[in-house]
Amino acid sequence: MRVLVTGGAGFIGANFVHRTLATRPDARITVLDKLTYAANPGSLATVRDRIRLVEGDVGDAAVVDPLVADADLVVHFAAESHNDNSLADPGIFVHTNVVGTFTLLEAIRRNDVRYHHISTDEVYGDLKLDDGSRFTESTPYNPSSPYSSTKASSDLLVRAWVRSFGIRATISNCSNNYGPYQHVEKFIPRQITNVLSGIRPKLYGTGDNVRDWIHVDDHNDAVWAIIDGGTIGETYLIGADGERDNRTVIETILELLGQPADAFDFVTDRPGHDLRYAIDSTRLRTELGWRPTFTDFRSGLAATVDWYRDNRSWWEPLKRDVEARYAQTEQVLD
Ligand code: NAD
Ligand code: TYD
Repeated sequence: MRVLVTGGAGFIGANFVHRTLATRPDARITVLDKLTYAANPGSLATVRDRIRLVEGDVGDAAVVDPLVADADLVVHFAAESHNDNSLADPGIFVHTNVVGTFTLLEAIRRNDVRYHHISTDEVYGDLKLDDGSRFTESTPYNPSSPYSSTKASSDLLVRAWVRSFGIRATISNCSNNYGPYQHVEKFIPRQITNVLSGIRPKLYGTGDNVRDWIHVDDHNDAVWAIIDGGTIGETYLIGADGERDNRTVIETILELLGQPADAFDFVTDRPGHDLRYAIDSTRLRTELGWRPTFTDFRSGLAATVDWYRDNRSWWEPLKRDVEARYAQTEQVLD
């Protein structure tokens, strides 16, 4: 099977490439990636001779068309993915997430190739902190940020291309991922690498915001379950019952690294900061039989801490610039 993976040099895409090579001996993988700041070719170093890596923009039809024509399956991870960046510079999010997906969909339509669209639970907006509600496949779209609104737009394009043009597509909306190869701008790797660099972790606002954490391998196994058995035109929510508030996550990271539980700073909150995300993944579990492997968040987090401790050369070159960027807007609160 010829698989085109867009965004395969980023966090989830690179893990998808590794997982696919390990579990699908028949897969022949081409990665299309613009190699933006978020990509790290080092994430693919150990499999570099087993894949084809094409540097290019998903919004460039001249690059995309021949690659899609040469594939049996396209899995679309490429995106601008960080909420904080989308507040500072939304234009590139519209280009990559909306125009990029449109460009890919047109190539899919022309070449009649199976397509799986990777998206986020953030398209549904946020939930109250304490009412126990969770997102389902029928929750109305209500995105808050430039990032989530461009992802919502891309999902709607996919739905329309299925209905209007009959493309063979499925969509998944997953909760927050953690694991190896995640850029140090994101919450969990930022705090782990802060501690490893002698910097105090930074908690936005009150730290009460809740995210529903899932290990990246569980996400990617669910993606394959949908590709293998999902119904064309349908959406599947992916989540592993991993709700934690941000403060608890920071305290656990500190404990795993042998630091006092209060050795972190509260900093200015993110504008429009979504309160809580939570996924009801009943459909994925009952229809496709998927179950997460990483059911204990603490041990998954401990393995992730170990990975960052053992792979300093992967993240250290990025750390200074990321912290300098955050320092421009972030203020430590008393
Ligand atoms: P990431 O930022 O780590 O990686 C994105 C990759 O896309 C990078 O390699 C980058 O170079 C590439 N890219 C960016 N613009 C491109 C363009 N115009 N053309 C080609 N390549 C381009 O992101 P991630 O965390 O791995 O997220 C991957 C996908 O999963 C995204 O679609 C994101 O919305 C979705 N998602 C992420 C999470 C999460 O917790 N990280 C959760 C649910 C869904
Ligand atoms: P993030 O990893 O940016 O993911 P998302 O915005 O897609 O949920 O942030 C996860 C949570 O952590 C979110 O509530 C914002 C918060 N956060 C901090 O408290 N401190 C930080 O330094 C960062 C980057 C995020």
